[in-house]
Amino acid sequence: MPQPPARFQVIYDTDPGVDDAMALYYALAHPEIDVVGVTTTFGNVSVAQAAENALYLLAIAGHGHIPVTQGVAAPLGKPGEDPPAHIHGADGLGNLAHREAHALRLDARSSAQFIVDIARKQPGEITVVAVGPLGNLALALAIEPQLPQLLRAVVIMGGTVVEPGNVSPVAEANIWNDPHAADRVVSAGFALTMVGLDVTHQVILPVTLFKQLAAHHRHIATDTLHHAVAFYANFYSDLYPHVAAIHGCFGHDVLAFVALTDPQLFQTETGALRVATDGLAQGQTMLKRKSIPYPQTGWEVAPATVCMQVQAASCRQTIEDVFMRNWLSL
Ligand code: BDR
Ligand code: CA
Repeated sequence: MPQPPARFQVIYDTDPGVDDAMALYYALAHPEIDVVGVTTTFGNVSVAQAAENALYLLAIAGHGHIPVTQGVAAPLGKPGEDPPAHIHGADGLGNLAHREAHALRLDARSSAQFIVDIARKQPGEITVVAVGPLGNLALALAIEPQLPQLLRAVVIMGGTVVEPGNVSPVAEANIWNDPHAADRVVSAGFALTMVGLDVTHQVILPVTLFKQLAAHHRHIATDTLHHAVAFYANFYSDLYPHVAAIHGCFGHDVLAFVALTDPQLFQTETGALRVATDGLAQGQTMLKRKSIPYPQTGWEVAPATVCMQVQAASCRQTIEDVFMRNWLSL
C-alpha cells in the first residue's frame, strides 16, 4: 500500500450486516478516517435493506451528511442466494424491535457510479474499504478501466488462504457470494490488501465490550450496535466452543479498517491473487505464494497483499480504544 496520508479518505462498500455496522461505527469513531461515502450491496441482506441500514446507522449516529448509494442486487455470474438471516437477523441488525424514524434519502447514483465519480474528482486520494461481495467495484471497473490508477488503495474483507472457509471448505462468504466480481477486482491491478479469515478468525470480540461501550456512551447508536452484536454472537458461540467460552464473535469487517490504519499489527504475504469462479472450489481465493514459474497462465497479474497473521490482543485493544473515544454527539 502507498505511504499513509494524514487522514484516510474512505468510501465504505458494505452489506450491513452486524460486523459491517460495527466497522462503520469504528470508522466514524477513528480520528484518522473520513468516510466520504457509503456504497451498499446485497450480501448479508438484500441491497434495499443494506441501503436502508446504512442510512439508519448514519442517521442515529448523527452522520446524515455522508452520502449513501444503493448498488448491485445480485451476483454478476451466478444465481443469488437467500441472505443469512440466522447470522445477522432478517433485518441485518439482529432483528431490532424498533427503529426511530429518519429523513435521510439515498444519493440517486448507483454505487459503482459513485465510486467512479469520487475517484475521478480526487485522483490518488480515495481508499475503498469493501466488506461485502465485490460487484460494485467490478462494475466501477467496467465504467472506468483506469480505476486502479485513480484510487489510492482497496482493502477488502474477504477470502482465506490457509484458514478453512466459512461457506465451503475453501470459500469465505463475501467471495462466494460473487466469485466472478471478486476475481475481476483482485486481478485488476489495484493496490489491494486482502483481510480474510486467516486473520479475522484470530480476533474474538466479546459481547461485554459492546455492553461497556453502550454504558460508556449512552446513545441509541451504541445501544443498537450492542443489540446487534448480542444476536450475532449467538451464531458464532453456537458454532465455535472457543468463541462461546467468552460469548463473543468475529469482528470480520472491522479488521479491514484496522489493517488500513494499523498495518503494523499484521503479517502479510504478497503475490498474485485469483478467485476460482466455478466447480467445487468456487469462491476460493488462491494466492501464489512461491516465485515458481508455473506452466499455466493466469498468474501474471499485479500482486496483492494478503494478511496472514495478526497481533490479536493489540488488535482487540485498538478496536476498544477507538470505540471509547468521544465520537458521538448527543
Ligand atoms: C463476511 O461475510 C459477512 O457475513 C460478514 O459481514 C463479513 O463481511 C465474513 O465472512
Ligand atoms: Ca460484510
